[in-house]
Order: sequence, then C-alpha cells, then structure tokens
Amino acid sequence: MLDIANVLAVVLLLTSVRGLENGLARTPPMGWLSWTRFGCNIDCDSDPDFCISEKLIMSMADRLASDGYKAAGYEYVCIDDCWLAPERDIFHRLQPDKRRFPHGMKYLADYVHSKGLKLGIYEDFGTKTCGGYPGSEFFLQLDAKTFAEWGIDLLKFDTCHSDAHDNKYGYPAMSMYLNQTGRPILFSCEWPYGELQQNLSSDYGPVRETCNIWRNFWDVSDHFDSVKSIVANYGKNNALFQKYSGPGGFFDPDMILAGGFGMSSYQQRAQMSMWAMLSAPLFMSNDLRDISPDARRLLLNPLLLAVDQDPMGKMATKLWEFNNLQLWVKPIVPEGSLAVTFLNTNNFGSGSPISSTADSLGLTDSRGYNVTEVFTGKNLGVLKPTSVIKTRVFPTDAYMIVCILMA
Ligand SMILES: *[C@@H]1O[C@H](CO)[C@@H](O)[C@H](O)[C@H]1NC(C)=O
Ligand SMILES: *[C@@H]1O[C@H](CO)[C@@H](O)[C@H](O)[C@H]1NC(C)=O
Ligand SMILES: *[C@@H]1O[C@H](CO)[C@@H](O)[C@H](O)[C@H]1NC(C)=O
Repeated sequence: MLDIANVLAVVLLLTSVRGLENGLARTPPMGWLSWTRFGCNIDCDSDPDFCISEKLIMSMADRLASDGYKAAGYEYVCIDDCWLAPERDIFHRLQPDKRRFPHGMKYLADYVHSKGLKLGIYEDFGTKTCGGYPGSEFFLQLDAKTFAEWGIDLLKFDTCHSDAHDNKYGYPAMSMYLNQTGRPILFSCEWPYGELQQNLSSDYGPVRETCNIWRNFWDVSDHFDSVKSIVANYGKNNALFQKYSGPGGFFDPDMILAGGFGMSSYQQRAQMSMWAMLSAPLFMSNDLRDISPDARRLLLNPLLLAVDQDPMGKMATKLWEFNNLQLWVKPIVPEGSLAVTFLNTNNFGSGSPISSTADSLGLTDSRGYNVTEVFTGKNLGVLKPTSVIKTRVFPTDAYMIVCILMA
C-alpha cells in the first residue's frame, strides 16, 4: 500500500507541474522587447527615430537579422504597450495607431517573418492597458483571433486595470482562445505579478499550465539595485520556483539591459549571467542601432547563451550567501555538469577573493570537470574535486564558469 501511495504521490507531483502544451518555449525564449528603452514614446513628430512605430520595429528586426543576434537565438521582436489606436474599430476589433503603423500589423508580421524572425505583441487582461489603450477584458476571444489573423507569434498579456482575483479565470481563458486559433502563439503572462501588486499569493501550478513564461515581480529598471532585488526574490523563493521551471514554462525576471545607460559593463554581465543561471527568457531592451562592441559581445557570448538555453531548463540553486557574496549552481548537459556563478552584490570595496576547492562548489565527481570561464573564454583545464579555484569577484560583478563532467 505504501508503495502505491508513493507512486501516486509522484504521479500527482508530475501532473501538478504539467506545462502548456503548445510546443513553444522548450528552452527560454530570446528576443528583443521595446519597453525599458522606448517605453510609451508616441511622439513620432518630434522624435521619429525613437517612437513606438513600425519603422522602429522594422529597424530592430533588420539589426537582429544582420548583426548576429538571430543566429545566436534571439528570434522574437516584440512590441510592448502603446501600439494601439485609442479606440477599437466598428467591429470592436483592435487596431494599431494608423499614423505610427500605417501598413497595419499583418504587414509588419510579414516583414518580420521575411527576416526569419517572429513578431510579439502586447495587450492587457484588464479594461485598459497600462498606458490607457483599449484592454482585452470582454474581448478575449476576438482579440486572440485578431492576433492570429495578423500572424502574431507571441502575446505579452499585462495586468493593469484588472482585479487580480480574476487572473486565475482570465489568463486560462485567453490561453484557451489562443489555442483555438490553431496558431502557436507564445503566451507571456503577468498573472502572478498582478497578484503581487494586489497582495495576493500565487499558485504556480495553474500558471504553468496556462503560460509559457510569466512575470511575478516588479519591472526591471536600468539600475543594479533593481537587478539585485530581482535576484534576491529568486533566492528567497528558490525551492518553490525551481519546481515550476522547465521546458515549456519559465519564470520571467524581465528584460536584459545590456547596451543600456544605467549599469556598468560589469553589472550588465552580472545580470546576463544570473538570468542564464535562472533559465530566464532573454528579451533585451536596448537600441541595436547604437550599441557598444562590449555589450554586443556580451549579448552574443556563446557559453553564456548555452547555459541559458540548456535543454534541461533547470533553475539554478543558491548554495549560500555570505557578506553579500552569493554562490549559485545550475545542472547542465551532459549529465553531471554544472554552471557555477559567484555574484558579488556589494557596491563598495575591491572585490571578494575566492579560494575554494572544486568539491565545495558541487564539483564532487572524481572523474573531474573541464572548466571554462564564461566571460574570458579561458579554459582552466580539468579540475578534480580537490583542485582549488582562485579568483576575485568585483563589486556588482559576477564570476561564471562552465564545468563539463569528464566522460
Ligand atoms: C492546443 O492544445 C492542444 C492540447 O493541449 C495541443 O495538442 C495543441 O498543440 C495546441 N495548439 C496550439 C495551436 O497551441
Ligand atoms: C499591499 O500591501 C502594501 C504594503 O503592506 C500596501 O502599501 C498596499 O496598499 C497594498 N496594496 C493593496 C492593493 O492592497
Ligand atoms: C575542454 O574544453 C575545451 C573547450 O570546449 C576543449 O577545447 C578541450 O579539448 C577540453 N579538454 C579536455 C581535456 O577535454
């Protein structure tokens, strides 16, 4: 009897973390999203190159395709809020602002697809979007159909102007309507974030069955304190979040800010490394027409992207935090291998010296590990459990290594 009970418990556990079966987000999705960098700038008269418009989206698609980003895996080009006209059309359908998107959304999707990329769009479950444009409440089915007709590939569904008690009905309904269109549309939800804002707790089982990725914390801003608080939230809820992260469904700590203004190159790489450790979606919000070679190199770092895109899709475990130095480890393929990151969240001092045996980082297999530094690409050779790893982690920086178990 006991055995059967155990088997049942395991079956229940597995089914409780079942994902959304639309075939998408088998690894964390990657792409570009307009929000942090371009916000709700609708002033195309005086700021034509920086306003939310088809021109902006097309130029980002051009850069993604031609500057190596698409080849590295960044495939979704996503419009955030403020693309809409202030009113629905006479058939109650959503329509883009006619001056800023003069050719319409189908045209834009066709253009993005012609570059081998996918188009993401934004709506809101409430009566209005955060920017005050028409929301989807009471129009879920029609809006899903409209997006599918336009050729949309991803929907970011926000939670402003709604009662978060309704999210557990509204988001699954939208997910069902998206499914019914027959078009695979990656579903990016702000459902748990809406609950957080209204002081409600979140149940990630249904979220994972409904959404491919989901936000559950405050928006990232272009400042290391923001990155730090997001990482702290993952540390605090590490065991809970790990249970619900995996192929088909991932927690979304929000946009990547490499190439922005507010963080040093060390801070930018610390953010990238932590997002990769968490198996987070990588949606950069920057201006790809104007980006430093350093930031571009970071965004295209093949070892870092391989850790993020690891097929097992595990979320890293926080092993410890001491004097604002954190140690995170993530299982990666081939089995038994690990990515290891030290994150120094101090914003003073000259850095934390590290001198650790490999086994204290979780590298316990006597066959040893082939270890490579992620940011320098330097190979450290094969380390045994008793080998010592020495380095220094600068303030607001990370040190990241990939450790492949020897066959
Ligand atoms: C709709 O859901 C079914 C059942 O989960 C799934 O097999 C199918 O692939 C989904 N279709 C789309 C377009 O998401
Ligand atoms: C949520 O809690 C915070 C802190 O206790 C409070 O300031 C805020 O007003 C609450 N929000 C809602 C929607 O109840
Ligand atoms: C370790 O990995 C590097 C980079 O992938 C590779 O060039 C090297 O041959 C590997 N070393 C061993 C001993 O397997």
